[in-house]
Amino acid sequence: MSERHYNFFDKCILFFEQAQRTVKQDVLACRISPAKEQKEAVLTAQERKLSANLLRVDHAGEVCAQALYLGHALAAKNKKIKNHFISAAQEETDHLVWCALRLKELNDHRSYLNPVWYTGSFAMGFLSGLGGEKWNLGFVAETEMQVEAHLKAHLKLLPEKDEKTKAILLQMKEDEMAHAQRAIEAGGEDLPVFIKKTMKVFSKIMTTLAFYV
Ligand SMILES: [Fe+2]
Ligand SMILES: [Fe+2]
Repeated sequence: MSERHYNFFDKCILFFEQAQRTVKQDVLACRISPAKEQKEAVLTAQERKLSANLLRVDHAGEVCAQALYLGHALAAKNKKIKNHFISAAQEETDHLVWCALRLKELNDHRSYLNPVWYTGSFAMGFLSGLGGEKWNLGFVAETEMQVEAHLKAHLKLLPEKDEKTKAILLQMKEDEMAHAQRAIEAGGEDLPVFIKKTMKVFSKIMTTLAFYV
């Protein structure tokens, strides 16, 4: 991906291929899920449902992350920055796989609206990337910080004894902070307040709907 220039049609093909793989969960993790180290707790039906609903939101967030990073990478002109997005996307793939596996263990489904989240996030990533590297990286840093805050809130809401889900969210939180830090160090600008607020509105719509659907 970093070795060649992509024309419009290449970008369309890449978008559809990646979208299909992400939504169908046809991807592999590089790291073993942190949940593997933890013992399965006996959860009540209500606790299991709460864990699954929260995790479905987090999984949908990872679908968005895949699309955002692909959009950023395709818009980036600088090879180093492009590679930065591609390597961060790999860690996001780990998150995507861990969440999907845990959702399966909890006998629940992924968000039915994942194709919508993917398309919207790709468009946001690509459009923000057209503004130049510093805004592209700034957008990533802000997204990662909002996701980290979100994971923090979910960790408080999770059933106390669900150590498996907790281990996944803790590792994701740590990775998202590292992604934000790397984007800032690479030259990401602090975004204007109205853009941050718009991102929060999009995030609110996604998190509310993905909790149920
Ligand atoms: Fe992530
Ligand atoms: Fe991230």
